[in-house]
Amino acid sequence: MPEQKKEIVLSGIRSTGNLHLGNYYGALRKFVAVQNDYDCNFFIADLHALTTNPNPEDLHKNARQILAEYLAAGLDPEKSTIFVQSDVPEIAEMYLLLNMHVGIGELMRTTSFKDKARKALGITAPADDSDEAFEKEIIGASTNKRVNAGLLTYPTLMAVDILIQKATKVPVGKDQLQHLELTRRFARRFNSFYGVDLFPEPTDFDFGGQPIKVPGLDGSGKMGKSEGNCIYLVDDPKVLRKKVMHAVTDEGPKEPDSPMSEPIANLFSLLELTSKPEVVQQFRDAYADCSIRYGDLKKQIAEDILAVTTPIRERVNDILADEEYLAKVVRMGAEKARERAAKTLAEVRYIMGIRKF
Ligand code: ADP
Ligand code: TRP
Repeated sequence: MPEQKKEIVLSGIRSTGNLHLGNYYGALRKFVAVQNDYDCNFFIADLHALTTNPNPEDLHKNARQILAEYLAAGLDPEKSTIFVQSDVPEIAEMYLLLNMHVGIGELMRTTSFKDKARKALGITAPADDSDEAFEKEIIGASTNKRVNAGLLTYPTLMAVDILIQKATKVPVGKDQLQHLELTRRFARRFNSFYGVDLFPEPTDFDFGGQPIKVPGLDGSGKMGKSEGNCIYLVDDPKVLRKKVMHAVTDEGPKEPDSPMSEPIANLFSLLELTSKPEVVQQFRDAYADCSIRYGDLKKQIAEDILAVTTPIRERVNDILADEEYLAKVVRMGAEKARERAAKTLAEVRYIMGIRKF
């Protein structure tokens, strides 16, 4: 029997800083887990990072850092194609082509665009959350507080990352599901506009059941770089313990079986991600009978997080010091990623009518 072709998995993380626990549980851990069974492609989304106009020195430093963290967490360049997005120029060309089939209205209604655009304009709490009010804010913005077009077309670029490799499985955290939905829509639209069957429709890839959202330690919301509430994989033990011990809590349960407030539910989510089921149960029971001590809960969480992050942190610096190895990994990755990208781009150009005279 001919060997069955492995399904194509693809995902990326923007090079905007060190990786945090949200990135690890929402994305990186899954990347490592599927390496043996799929045709895996993982990249550093440096072009996406440009949408928030980073300092050029930082952009390069962060790309190297993420590459080192990918490798330290167990991504293996012999098993997975590991590359830097900007090393594949075919992506930029296809981004231009796909944009011809993407509506500015649908892009403007994307949640992540709304959040980032408002941030760029310095609007923290919009008085009116309607699409109409939002459009007026954007169009009426002065030129020194502009919302760049790259931010608007972020989902086109992400769709191209996926479609150019014809990936069908995309491991990402919950916050990226809307982008994935748009990718499917763009794929269907392209196929039906040209009457072709070029792009498969990619789906989320969460082998552990529910899509994951790692909470912050500040009581509400998700852990995120721009939220400033992150536990980084490379945090040293002292810093990490301090961050966890400072997590927001409440006054504690006063009656048996009280409902949990959000900050406490968040701590339990972290415990569930990092600790053994029996430990989680022990703390749940202590909460239910009001004997819980939040200090103990936090200590447990800190130690269990450290058990996950310490081996990664210890490897990162050695990997970063080996310039030659890093360069070799991305060279190999770019070569492989470009092969399939060039093939898809040639198909897209032909289908759209860009042909040789
Ligand atoms: P950030 O939100 O910190 O800027 P990115 O947007 O670069 O991080 O996210 C990279 C990957 O990590 C994505 O797959 C995203 O879904 C995942 N991710 C980020 N934060 C979290 C979180 N708090 N919980 C789960 N997954 C997350
Ligand atoms: N938008 C993703 C994020 O912020 C990163 C990303 C870019 C990505 N291109 C992708 C993820 C393609 C999966 C597939 O996290």
